Amino acid sequence: MNPFTPATIAPLAQQFGTPLWIYDADTITRQIAALRLFDVVRFAQKANSNTHILRLMRRQGAVVDSVSLGEIERALAGGFTPGLHNGHADIVFTADLLDRATLARVVELNIPVNCGSMDMLDQLGAVNPGHPVWLRINPGFGHGHSKKTNTGGEHSKHGIWHGDLVRACEKIQSNGLALQGLHMHIGSGVDYAHLQEVCGAMLKLVEVVNAQGLDLHAISAGGGLSVPYQAGEPTIDTAHYFSLWDAVRHAVEQLLEHPVKLEIEPGRYLMAESGVLVTEVRATKQQGANHFVMVDAGFSDLVRPALYGAYHGMELIHSDGTAVNGLQFDTVVAGPLCESGDVFTQGDGGVVLPRSLPQAQVGDLLVLHDTGAYGASMSSNYNARPLIAEVLMENGEPRLVRRRQTVAELLALEAV
Ligand code: LLP
Repeated sequence: MNPFTPATIAPLAQQFGTPLWIYDADTITRQIAALRLFDVVRFAQKANSNTHILRLMRRQGAVVDSVSLGEIERALAGGFTPGLHNGHADIVFTADLLDRATLARVVELNIPVNCGSMDMLDQLGAVNPGHPVWLRINPGFGHGHSKKTNTGGEHSKHGIWHGDLVRACEKIQSNGLALQGLHMHIGSGVDYAHLQEVCGAMLKLVEVVNAQGLDLHAISAGGGLSVPYQAGEPTIDTAHYFSLWDAVRHAVEQLLEHPVKLEIEPGRYLMAESGVLVTEVRATKQQGANHFVMVDAGFSDLVRPALYGAYHGMELIHSDGTAVNGLQFDTVVAGPLCESGDVFTQGDGGVVLPRSLPQAQVGDLLVLHDTGAYGASMSSNYNARPLIAEVLMENGEPRLVRRRQTVAELLALEAV
């Protein structure tokens, strides 16, 4: 979907230039509200870690999951508090390894660490016995919208293998670590069949932990909630999603004989539909049977189509803010990079999938929908292209929340 009208987008493209990310604050607020039933909505900030977005999330009562030192610092800059207060953590660090700098920082700030490997338990225990930890368990199966977003099963590097849970508990005890909760995230784009499997697995894991004489205060459902990128794709029934997990929570509470918090950790669900990528058409060409429309953004800006064959809705707008209408043509939409895979209309394995679009002219704007999650946060400087600007629309007002990077800034890193 696109929360913005052509008449809103065109003047912003004029004012801030293209390519440009635009986000809608109301959409983000609505998506957080849809998950209110959960005790804790922990935003997986890898989806979009702009500090202004993080601040908005915080105002709406969400907390965050950080996966790198940079994301921890972003969370702090966004106003989240480090450490553990009455059993509550604004920031949890989730990873499968601890580099030295991050280890030092999480210990300094007492940030709970969601451990995806046994070595992390030893490394934390060695420097800070008593450190709060979660266990991220790989239940032996996973699911994802693409092979690359499946985070469970034996082909995935993520999580502590379910069969190692007893040993993990022993390590927690021998290192004197403070277990907070159990966590599973089996992939992005989880369906209900897999969800039920995860719920069943969670209860079994808690039984193992309990039998080892350890207690816990929370369970996390992970992220993975899908959004409809294409017409006809289902929207998540969040009440149903919650009810499946709430039943697990109740069973866990009966077993442990005390209340347990239920967390959810979405990235895409909170951000994807809020954002668009606005590009300008800079060339059109016919290559044999294929009609190409070339825009000024590439996979250095939005990598999802090139990496996963991901689909993003598209629309064309005249620079005066009216929609481009008329007959539709099979169109291949490509970017400026010196790389054949720099095509926004492609499927899995790189097969080109022309899109039906009206006739585009140079100077028109081509808008890519549902790019608020894993858009800007996955951008790169490939082809020495500076990162592009981000604008947040709030109460009808556009706010520049990241200015465009300059080439001089890229070069400055090498002035050594
Ligand atoms: N929690 C953990 C531990 C994760 O690894 C992830 C995503 C999430 C939560 C949030 O997942 P979500 O709710 O956004 O599906 N770049 C890919 C998605 C990779 C996600 C990696 N981990 C994409 O553009 O589809």
